[in-house]
Amino acid sequence: MPTTAPSCAIVIFGASGDLAKLKLIPAIYEMARERLLNEHSYVVGFARSKMSEDDFRKECNDAIRLNARSKKAIDEGLLKSVLNRIHYFQGDDYGSAEAHQKLSEFLTTCDAKYGNAEKNRLFYLSTPPNAFEPIITRLGERAKDPDNNPPARFKRLIIEKPFGTDLASAKHLNAVIHKYFDEEQVFRIDHYLGKETVQNLMVMRFANSIFEPIWNYKYIDHVQITVSEIVSADDRAGYYDNSGALRDMVQNHIFQLMALVAMEPPAALDAVSIRDEKTKVYRSIRPIRPEQVDVFTVRGQYGAGTHGKVTTNGYTQAKGVKPGSGTETFAALKLFIDNWRWSGMPFYIRTGKLLEQKLSEVVVRFRSPPQTLFQKQCESPVYPNDLVIRIAPEEGISWRLNGKVPGGAMNIKPVALDFNYKTAFKVEAPEAYERLIYDAMVGDQTLFIRGDEAEAAWAVIDPIELGWRGSKKPPEPYAPGSWGPKRAMDLIEHDGRRWMQAKEGESEPIVACSL
Ligand code: BG6
Repeated sequence: MPTTAPSCAIVIFGASGDLAKLKLIPAIYEMARERLLNEHSYVVGFARSKMSEDDFRKECNDAIRLNARSKKAIDEGLLKSVLNRIHYFQGDDYGSAEAHQKLSEFLTTCDAKYGNAEKNRLFYLSTPPNAFEPIITRLGERAKDPDNNPPARFKRLIIEKPFGTDLASAKHLNAVIHKYFDEEQVFRIDHYLGKETVQNLMVMRFANSIFEPIWNYKYIDHVQITVSEIVSADDRAGYYDNSGALRDMVQNHIFQLMALVAMEPPAALDAVSIRDEKTKVYRSIRPIRPEQVDVFTVRGQYGAGTHGKVTTNGYTQAKGVKPGSGTETFAALKLFIDNWRWSGMPFYIRTGKLLEQKLSEVVVRFRSPPQTLFQKQCESPVYPNDLVIRIAPEEGISWRLNGKVPGGAMNIKPVALDFNYKTAFKVEAPEAYERLIYDAMVGDQTLFIRGDEAEAAWAVIDPIELGWRGSKKPPEPYAPGSWGPKRAMDLIEHDGRRWMQAKEGESEPIVACSL
């Protein structure tokens, strides 16, 4: 059982934003419920919006009631005590020395009030990315100045994504950070790493002996990773139009999934060893040069339409999108990892907004059995085995094997051996942010991105972005509710393979054999 974290001041920059309401404040309440939050810890929300402390607490109250994992059984007494330890600090500018001076004085008062004796600080940067540098600089200057710097057991930064927009900006941000802080103080977040199934990927691979011998190009035909969403980007266009699917989802979440699938066994289960291995994966990805983007990548943009509860006039019509924007709301890539384990074996990845369903999964498709026995007599090829690692909607792992359909005829049908998190363990997994904030409090960096790791991931993305920006072809349109542009199908089908989910409502056929 994890133990209560050390006490600290949790300072959330960007506290009036969506992330704080949707995830951070509810996570802090849940940590208190699980007794992981120290009773001497407190929260200070720092933002530019003019708001009274009462109003901020009211927002937090609503946020917890609406978004907390245990929202159906709120503990009123606990909620009250958590809200009483939440404060609001308004500053006109994230980089203002005066605001930071006042914040620091405020924290000193709160330390005394709540008994945060070690004066520990956890600074959570949940602002638009252009505020990262001024905040880090101000915090860093103060941290370096002994007069303004009461000794503390720890002063740590949690930095939200996006960490840079390309290799150069990530390097610059790392340089700014390292001017003032050691890497041990920095926690770059990727909330996918806080998800149970993602962590289970490591357990599955390295705590079971059946996988390692076959976990390579000799037995695996290919790996496909799909992270599809049903939401649009219409209401986040201000951010999204400067980002796009490749930077928003591939450089971080999808690459993390890919690295955990592809990495070598780490020397130990610690932050250094695991992050070393993930970084090696990024460095081994065969670069897609700008002139190769038409062969190895597909980008798409949703048009007008309705899917589920979402109606859109098309991405380019959304408020905040530049006229004629070429920003992709869908991206698919075919990648190779040039090392001994994965030599010549493709990884297909795709992600997009307003797709057919909300799904995050890794499919490891094994090679078909040799062309003997059933293969000869069956009407169509016997289906290959799949290992499906599902992160959403239902976290779990499923093996797809071929089984005989009962009866006199030799009919074969793929069947699934399912492991579902909820039914297997009968406990509710913590939300990613609960796990990650706790880890930052106890100083465990395993589930956070290291500086060089972020840079290695950007190094793969940059030439693709360059190729796309230099291309005369606009992103290919796709209809809301589809699986993306047609070329995304071609990308994999030209290789004689197919996406696990390709058409609505499709199921695997029964394979009939005459024996
Ligand atoms: C965020 C992206 O990091 O992840 C969003 O910025 C995306 O665009 C979200 O919607 C998806 O997260 P999840 O946990 O819902 O898969």
